[in-house]
Amino acid sequence: METLATLLVLITFLFFSSIVEAQNNNRGPRAFFVFGDSLVDSGNNNFLATTARADSPPYGIDYPTHRPNGRFSNGLNIPDIISEQIGSQPTLPYLSPELTGPRLLIGANFASAGIGILNDTGIQFLNIIRIYRQLDYFKQYQQRVSALIGEAGAKLLVNRALVLITLGGNDFVNNYYLVPFSIRSTQFTLPDYVNYVISEYSKILEIMYDLGARRVLVTGTGPLGCVPSQIAQRGRNGNCAEELQRAADLYNPKLVDMINQLNKKVGSNVFIASNAFKMHMDFINNPRQYGFVTSKVACCGQGPYNGLGICTVVSNLCPNRDEYAFWDSFHPTEKANRIIVQQILEGDTNYMHPMNLSTIMELDSRV
Ligand SMILES: *[C@@H]1O[C@H](CO)[C@@H](O)[C@H](O)[C@H]1NC(C)=O
Ligand SMILES: *[C@@H]1O[C@H](CO)[C@@H](O)[C@H](O)[C@H]1NC(C)=O
Repeated sequence: METLATLLVLITFLFFSSIVEAQNNNRGPRAFFVFGDSLVDSGNNNFLATTARADSPPYGIDYPTHRPNGRFSNGLNIPDIISEQIGSQPTLPYLSPELTGPRLLIGANFASAGIGILNDTGIQFLNIIRIYRQLDYFKQYQQRVSALIGEAGAKLLVNRALVLITLGGNDFVNNYYLVPFSIRSTQFTLPDYVNYVISEYSKILEIMYDLGARRVLVTGTGPLGCVPSQIAQRGRNGNCAEELQRAADLYNPKLVDMINQLNKKVGSNVFIASNAFKMHMDFINNPRQYGFVTSKVACCGQGPYNGLGICTVVSNLCPNRDEYAFWDSFHPTEKANRIIVQQILEGDTNYMHPMNLSTIMELDSRV
């Protein structure tokens, strides 16, 4: 018994020292960092006193553990599938007590459901990790990694890393359009609000660059008006809600312009625009072509299109999650997430601008 325990300790030690070794030699899978909202939160909110959480069944029903784990999906989310595709282990939530020692070298997920670009987005969810706090945690993370592999090693790890940032949707759904006559909507016309949000986003991306990020996938917003919640509440006859679609139509091209400007400023293609809108619209317009029976009705929920309220143990639940594009009233199923990641990897310049993730991986493996 004792020998077995010793052996296990030894194996664990060898495993972790090989990770440290690989990082020091600039080999091994690159680290992966995730920032943003519920589309990419892998469980940080479970550690917070907030109402924005996915910690009860049937969330996680198709996850390997079949248990809720904080992901806003039936199974894997987009960061999990990216990790899988680049040959890494999934990144742990930054607040997880398991994220210690050499596990830090895999990367970290700082995302928190409910947040937006603006500090006042998602205030109704109370205690969530707003984007500036996520960036502070990223700084703190780098100090922890420095203690592990030295300052130069930590810097290299961050420079070589892949970064994903997904936010912006909540600045519309959970701010401007949250209630009629919201503060922001009385303060700004929609086009002015879009400009304001984009200029704030630009500051966030510059800080990320200053913190050492050199490959950052920046996702635009999905078709905000086509999620079951909005079809149910604002859509006419099951159509996408026009006003939110208009917001996404205004926002997404401006985001690409802003990214182009930033890349010009830093003199390299650090920021990659990912056209989440188009990626979603493909299966929303042709659900059957992608194996879905519907892209309007959520798998889990209640009311029209299962789009009202939240997904809970007493909600309607579809038997086969792979036949639904949306898991709950806002978030895609694992199957839809896989279609999205496929486009992130291989999509042409209409989906990934200026290049896709396969090309990035190929380019970066040569340096
Ligand atoms: C948002 O909060 C951060 C950190 O608290 C602050 O630095 C930033 O200026 C704020 N942004 C705006 C627009 O107030
Ligand atoms: C995207 O990835 C595929 C597969 O790796 C590649 O053949 C293609 O040229 C890439 N497209 C662009 C625009 O980079």
